[in-house]
Amino acid sequence: MLTFDDVHFYYQKGEPIIDKLSFTIEAGEFVVMLGANGCGKSTIAKLMDGLLLPKGGQVRFKNLSTLNPADLIKIHEQIGVVFQNPEDQFITTTVMDEVIFGLENIRLPREDIRVRAEHALQAVQMEDYSEAMPHQLSGGQKQRVAIAAILAMSPQIIIFDEATSMLDPLGRKQVLSIIQQLHRQGMTIVHITHHMEEALLAERILLIHQGRLEFDGDPLTFFETVPVTDYQLDEPFALRIHKKLRPSVPLTADWKEMIRSEWSMN
Ligand SMILES: Nc1ncnc2c1ncn2[C@@H]1O[C@H](COP(=O)(O)OP(=O)(O)OP(=O)(O)O)[C@@H](O)[C@H]1O
Ligand SMILES: [Mg+2]
Repeated sequence: MLTFDDVHFYYQKGEPIIDKLSFTIEAGEFVVMLGANGCGKSTIAKLMDGLLLPKGGQVRFKNLSTLNPADLIKIHEQIGVVFQNPEDQFITTTVMDEVIFGLENIRLPREDIRVRAEHALQAVQMEDYSEAMPHQLSGGQKQRVAIAAILAMSPQIIIFDEATSMLDPLGRKQVLSIIQQLHRQGMTIVHITHHMEEALLAERILLIHQGRLEFDGDPLTFFETVPVTDYQLDEPFALRIHKKLRPSVPLTADWKEMIRSEWSMN
């Protein structure tokens, strides 16, 4: 559905940031993208929805290409991005206006706009805050409003670019639970994170290293075969516990269950 085809990108000529990057994300997948600071994850997120354009190769979404100016509006509508800092994302003065803003730009009938906005706020449990000022909300609430504004557009893919990294544990938990719920409902998710616990939620991990794809596969294979500390990443806490408790027992296919039961036993 979303394809990077030999994508090349630089900000300054001669200093490539993304190099010959190719992969496809299928509808309904839950992909976690990992990598050290500065490896190019946010650049990839921006290339995905056409905020940045490839200098070589192509980024395609279905039959659309970000290189085709006529396709860009459709791509923006169908691929939503939630960024790290919720403050940067607000333009209006109330939560409701924030959610409605994007809808007015696509010129829906007034009644549809209202209904869509209300549904989106309900989906993130922010319906009681529709008249609140975005800037007065907590970090987690702000991110939920940012997600609602995207949901209202009925996108096909949502990219979360470290959307949980500035939140306290409760805020993170709430946003993660929304991400998981959206995935269960069929939304395609790309979640960029430094929290390795969150990588355990994924069906597929993409590891980026110096603008290249270093690993593409399931979390079990990832944690068994990739020396994560070489990439400035930690092992998830639960996995460290498993290795300490039962170092000789390899992970099996039902490893998440295995770690869960070891964890509750001790
Ligand atoms: N607007 C820009 N102009 C010039 N260089 C940039 C710009 N944005 C990013 N870079 C550089 O491109 C490289 C990749 O940055 P990017 O933000 O994509 O990394 P990242 O993997 O998202 O890092 P982090 O984990 O810190 O968010 C870095 O070396 C960064 O300094
Ligand atoms: Mg980034």
